[in-house]
Amino acid sequence: MFTEEKKKNTNYGSILVYCFFCLVLVVGVVRFAKPYYNLQNLMETEAVMEEGLLDVDKSGMLPFIFRNHHKLSTTVREETRTRPPLSYFVKFESFATMSNLVKGNGDKYESRPFSAGGYNWTFLIYPNVDKPVGSGGYVSLYVKIDNSSLITTQNEVYAWIKFLTYKSTTDTYHELHATEAQRFHLFKQQYGMLTFLEIGYYQNPVHGFIFNGEQCVFGVDIVVSKPSAWEDASYEQNIRDPVHDWTITDFSIHDHVSYTSDTFSSGGRNWVLKVYPNGVGSATGSSLSLYLLSASNENGYVKAKLRVIDQKGSNNVEKQVEGWPNAQENGWGVDSLIPLADLEDPDKGYLVNNIIKFEVEILAFSRTKSISN
Ligand SMILES: *[C@@H]1O[C@H](CO)[C@@H](O)[C@H](O)[C@H]1NC(C)=O
Ligand SMILES: *[C@@H]1O[C@H](CO)[C@@H](O)[C@H](O)[C@H]1NC(C)=O
Repeated sequence: MFTEEKKKNTNYGSILVYCFFCLVLVVGVVRFAKPYYNLQNLMETEAVMEEGLLDVDKSGMLPFIFRNHHKLSTTVREETRTRPPLSYFVKFESFATMSNLVKGNGDKYESRPFSAGGYNWTFLIYPNVDKPVGSGGYVSLYVKIDNSSLITTQNEVYAWIKFLTYKSTTDTYHELHATEAQRFHLFKQQYGMLTFLEIGYYQNPVHGFIFNGEQCVFGVDIVVSKPSAWEDASYEQNIRDPVHDWTITDFSIHDHVSYTSDTFSSGGRNWVLKVYPNGVGSATGSSLSLYLLSASNENGYVKAKLRVIDQKGSNNVEKQVEGWPNAQENGWGVDSLIPLADLEDPDKGYLVNNIIKFEVEILAFSRTKSISN
């Protein structure tokens, strides 16, 4: 009795264990059904398509079965190019051997660190079925940014990423890339394509992705979007110290081509005035020409009034300049400020005892601040 009882218990236990395994098996089959289906389907299609594939290849186009099988999202583009990877590539002596070896390393191959766009990166290649989960029968490719620079700067990094694999039959690279730059930061340190290319393409040399035995090449372009300089433009209107006087004693119309003032500051910028007593350009020989120049060679917008002072009365001559530099040597000015005849007229008060007085009133100017990384 006792032994029979015991035997019965054992049987119930076996049934339970058996049922448990059935359940595990069903779950397992369901879990792997999709990826295996993809792979199986691909292999079958390849067998059927082989002739068509070769025809298409001769014309230099990608075999159309890529398009049948690749689930391209609208923002991912597929290209064929001859240019090799820009940032890094990994060549495997054998795709099959690598696939086996990485099983002990989370099913991924991680490259050595390399530098691109001022950051360090690694390139991750997942050659096995459903690794990472969801990749089905595809090879997945990722890049990972070295987070040490992100931690210190708290920066975000935008980069355009292109993934490539070499195709020996056409001596080209098959490329997939997202059209938008990817954002990397402390909480998103990697980006990649879960479904880069079907594993099946690396299992038969006829497709060209494995060559010279079982070699294959995966590469990546990383182009970091980082303006090295930019400018900040503003418009200054309420100028500090807007008016500056310039007196020249011993002024001679005929002995000097030009006079240049000392540097003066107005609105926080340094300027000089430059006068051509006998005129310049269109005014040569007929009028005095006067220019305002930026001492630091700024060349934005300026609005200013230029004056010749009437030392005997109140008939100052005044002309306004407004706009971008209009004169030689980076200046804003007036070719014909005052006719030489008026200047030399002893009845008028512009040139008295060889003394001439100019005035400039700076009303506004644009300011650009240059910032560089
Ligand atoms: C990249 O790695 C090298 C070598 O480890 C290191 O010297 C360098 O500072 C790193 N650069 C950045 C931006 O993290
Ligand atoms: C930075 O990267 C290393 C290596 O991948 C990882 O172990 C570490 O957790 C990361 N740190 C942060 C803050 O993400």
